[in-house]
Amino acid sequence: MAAAARRWFGIADWIVELRYPKVLGSQWGDEGKGKLVDVLAEQFDIVARCQGGANAGHTIYNSEGKKFALHLVPSGILNEGTLCVIGNGVVVHLPGLFKEIDGLESNGVSCKGRILVSDRAHLLFDFHQIIDGLRETELANSFIGTTKRGIGPCYSSKAIRNGIRVCDLRHMDTFREKLEILLKDAASRFKGFEYSIAMLNEEVEKYKKFAERLEPYIADTVYIMNESITQKKKILVEGGQATMLDIDFGTYPFVTSSSPSAGGICTGLGIAPRRLGDLIGVVKAYTTRVGSGPFPTELLGKGGDILRTAGMEFGTTTGRPRRCGWLDIVALKYCCQVNGFSSLNLTKLDVLSYLQEIKLGVSYKQLGGKKLESFPADLSVLEQVQVDYEVLPGWNTDISSIRSYKDLPEAARRYVERIEELVGVPIHYIGIGPGRDALIFK
Ligand code: GDP
Ligand code: IMO
Ligand code: MG
Repeated sequence: MAAAARRWFGIADWIVELRYPKVLGSQWGDEGKGKLVDVLAEQFDIVARCQGGANAGHTIYNSEGKKFALHLVPSGILNEGTLCVIGNGVVVHLPGLFKEIDGLESNGVSCKGRILVSDRAHLLFDFHQIIDGLRETELANSFIGTTKRGIGPCYSSKAIRNGIRVCDLRHMDTFREKLEILLKDAASRFKGFEYSIAMLNEEVEKYKKFAERLEPYIADTVYIMNESITQKKKILVEGGQATMLDIDFGTYPFVTSSSPSAGGICTGLGIAPRRLGDLIGVVKAYTTRVGSGPFPTELLGKGGDILRTAGMEFGTTTGRPRRCGWLDIVALKYCCQVNGFSSLNLTKLDVLSYLQEIKLGVSYKQLGGKKLESFPADLSVLEQVQVDYEVLPGWNTDISSIRSYKDLPEAARRYVERIEELVGVPIHYIGIGPGRDALIFK
């Protein structure tokens, strides 16, 4: 117990120094961002989400081992003293948000006065979800494999400038007109979606009630975040998705529609770049991806099945089986470059425990054998790269109850240190299980 307290005390000092760490995904999502945020949250006054929406699925466990799956509510919610902010860059589906809040409340997690929603955040409507599905059907074999949570259509409304924001809920007369334009626009574009006045009336009535319920949560979060920084409050930012799914830096078009990399923190919360502080990249000890798109280190067949079963790799949001493969160092280095991570959290090291050997994808060769210098933009190149692997020995023993880095088997330490060497960023946290305490501080 004393050792645990010392360890916590040590880490607490270090975290306070960081003051505004940001936890971002550094692969294709589902790296375990939620768990790290939940573990760190007790050191912070505020946990804020800056982008994405209910496409995110963050699984966390409370100290009694009870499981929670969060989508829009930041993963700081289980820590009573933490204020959770949903920033201006997030797209908010109110029926989903209230369902999540009700679920938390019925499980004894008080949300009252603990969640703020930006008045600048865009509202994601049911019809956005419907046309997300219709778009995927239209794409036929080239479908993206979205979560069908309406993310692309809602960010499209935002970008084309007919979106509806949280602050618009305060003006129900113009809200109706704006929603009518949106619904008619969608109906004119998509055969499978029909506009009717009854639908508009029903939606407006629903949103009148939502507006009333949301009122106490609505805030100018840009002002609050900046005031909190001035008052030296401790702020932790939780990213959704990950850099390889970033609309600019990811494997476009097989990406999401927001900016899950570092830039999204500034645009999604209104925090100036020079006030950003340290960034922690969360990286799984292997790679997973849900949905379509290139995945150079993917293991098809039995190899992938072994990782999927051991890591229980099924989506938190959609339940889809995740595609699995070896850790891709080329993609990880690219993510470190784009985000400037100060440290990494290597998660799910325990999942690799019973493999005889473990591979690291260390470089890509183009067709013809030429080594690529950087992560390619061109998917026709990426789809055909040949990956060079380094093979490391496995450790063939359970590591899930180890809590100190020096107690890890030598082969596990070698794996961790080889990753640090290859990417040039220190690994400060190592996940060896899903529970709160299953974390080694290195
Ligand atoms: P996120 O979207 O990045 O928050 O990640 P998800 O919650 O979607 O997926 C990560 C999954 O791995 C969750 O089910 C976590 O409970 C689990 N998890 C997180 N860290 C570890 C770890 O170190 N070991 C194991 N075995 N599971 C982990
Ligand atoms: P968290 O926060 C993993 C993927 C989808 C699809 C692509 C586009 O839990 O890490 P979208 O619905 O956003 O238009 O889908 O992005 N995707 C995720 N994959 N984790 C996520 O979030 C994801 N959010 C979106 O599977 O390939
Ligand atoms: Mg997830």
